[in-house]
Amino acid sequence: MSYNLLKGKRGIIFGALNDMSIAWKVAERAVEEGATITLSNTPVAVRMGDVSKLGEKLGAEVIPADATNVDDLEMVFQRSMDVLGGKIDFVLHSIGMSPNVRKKRLYDDIDYDLLNKTLDISAVSFHKMIQAAKKLDAIADYGSILALSYIAAQRTMFGYNDMADAKALLESIARSFGYIYGREKHVRINTISQSPTQTTAGSGVKGMSSLMDFANRMSPLGNADADECANYCIVMFSDLTRKVTMQNLFHDGGFSSMGMSLRAMDQYEKSFDLYRNPDGTIQYG
Ligand SMILES: NC(=O)c1ccc[n+]([C@@H]2O[C@H](COP(=O)([O-])OP(=O)(O)OC[C@H]3O[C@@H](n4cnc5c(N)ncnc54)[C@H](O)[C@@H]3O)[C@@H](O)[C@H]2O)c1
Repeated sequence: MSYNLLKGKRGIIFGALNDMSIAWKVAERAVEEGATITLSNTPVAVRMGDVSKLGEKLGAEVIPADATNVDDLEMVFQRSMDVLGGKIDFVLHSIGMSPNVRKKRLYDDIDYDLLNKTLDISAVSFHKMIQAAKKLDAIADYGSILALSYIAAQRTMFGYNDMADAKALLESIARSFGYIYGREKHVRINTISQSPTQTTAGSGVKGMSSLMDFANRMSPLGNADADECANYCIVMFSDLTRKVTMQNLFHDGGFSSMGMSLRAMDQYEKSFDLYRNPDGTIQYG
């Protein structure tokens, strides 16, 4: 269902790889809500992935670019302004990759060259993107720039490895640049901290299915899926959120505020050698 929330707006969506990608869903919803967009991903992803099909379906030009390369990013903003016919109203950074995770290097045995790549691809690229846009004065007044994050930025999640450090940096960049860009040009910058979601990047995380199941059971509303994440992104791109900036916004069914749930307590009691005394107190074996 469309509410025309993005009618007449121009946007750039980075990171749609296939129809599981969160960016894919955001691109579809943005066009449904009346926006015109361009899509960008690495040259390899454009060749190997399905983003060109999405471009055809949405009437969106696909601009190959490596988000760690400043020249590429400037080209994406310039080309998008040319194609879409004016300044950009919204940008989605939906990019993440850890070569340490890919090579199964554990956190206490990471390769530092690979750590630099993780940080560059998954976090510093956000800074490069915003700086490139600002230098070109490419973002319209009250434009909205969003990146996708994960709660491992604040809490230790087994298996998330150096992506946790990347997400902490990503969220910090949203605050630091959000101040400057907001003060000077009314541009807002936020991160959405999304539930674990079954995507290509998501499936690289160690123990992903257990993590998803745990988060789902722990959250009073259950995990948020990629379509629901896309809806939240649309609201953040719209004029309904013009004064929201420098925030990390949890979109996780309540998970981030939970400590212990009734279900988890029941499961905990079942998993050890425990039994209840007649007065209801628990005896630990
Ligand atoms: N899937 C989850 O559980 C989950 C949860 C919270 C946050 N996120 C975040 O959502 C974002 C999107 O991930 P996704 O789950 O949709 O997976 P995805 O694999 O579909 O998307 C990741 C994208 O990053 C792109 N990318 C990698 N290196 C790049 C580079 N150098 N330049 C440009 N693009 C590059 C990939 O080509 C791919 O399109 C990521 O930031 C991810 O960390 C995912």
